[in-house]
Amino acid sequence: MSKAEGVVGHILLDAETIQGRVAELGRAISVDYQGKDLVLICILRGAVTFLTDLMRQITVPHEIDFMAISSYGIGQRESTGAVRLIMDLKTDIRGRHVLLVEDIVDSGRTIDYLLRTLWARQPADVRVCALLSKPSRRVVEVPLDYVGFEIPDQFVLGYGLDFDEKYRNLPYVGVLHPALMPGDEPAPC
Ligand code: PRP
Repeated sequence: MSKAEGVVGHILLDAETIQGRVAELGRAISVDYQGKDLVLICILRGAVTFLTDLMRQITVPHEIDFMAISSYGIGQRESTGAVRLIMDLKTDIRGRHVLLVEDIVDSGRTIDYLLRTLWARQPADVRVCALLSKPSRRVVEVPLDYVGFEIPDQFVLGYGLDFDEKYRNLPYVGVLHPALMPGDEPAPC
């Protein structure tokens, strides 16, 4: 598979590596949630690709649902920390075992907000499964129960992650070409 010409500087995680790790995560989740009432919650939009691969590697019965949040930006790589729910679940999670599925944890603000929001609904449990984590970027410490890969502080795209809302369809995770690296200029609210 050739790189998205001029957009991807280099491939960080190729498709085979990702699929292998997703299968491992699926096996671990299947063991841990044996006999439990599991609901996978996908955080739109970046986690869609990961969810659809992960759920096919999970062998215990489960439901899926979706949430969307928005964070107010001060630049393309930073946010102010103000997170807002823009699409809520259809599912009542009271008494159920919730597993949040995220593509990437960066500052931790999104997961922190979601954990507080979901725990208030009295589920039996809420855990987090993230494909990617950038520990060096963390502003809020959040518990991550399943992590695919810890990665350095680089702008990554593909496998659900976007650059300017595109390239989510790439089957691998690539590092943005240095020539396209965005600055931290203010973004319109
Ligand atoms: C990304 C990612 C997480 C969040 C992580 O979403 O999918 O939800 O940022 O960042 P944080 O740890 O600093 O909160 P994004 O806002 O890019 O939206 P998208 O998923 O629709 O691309």
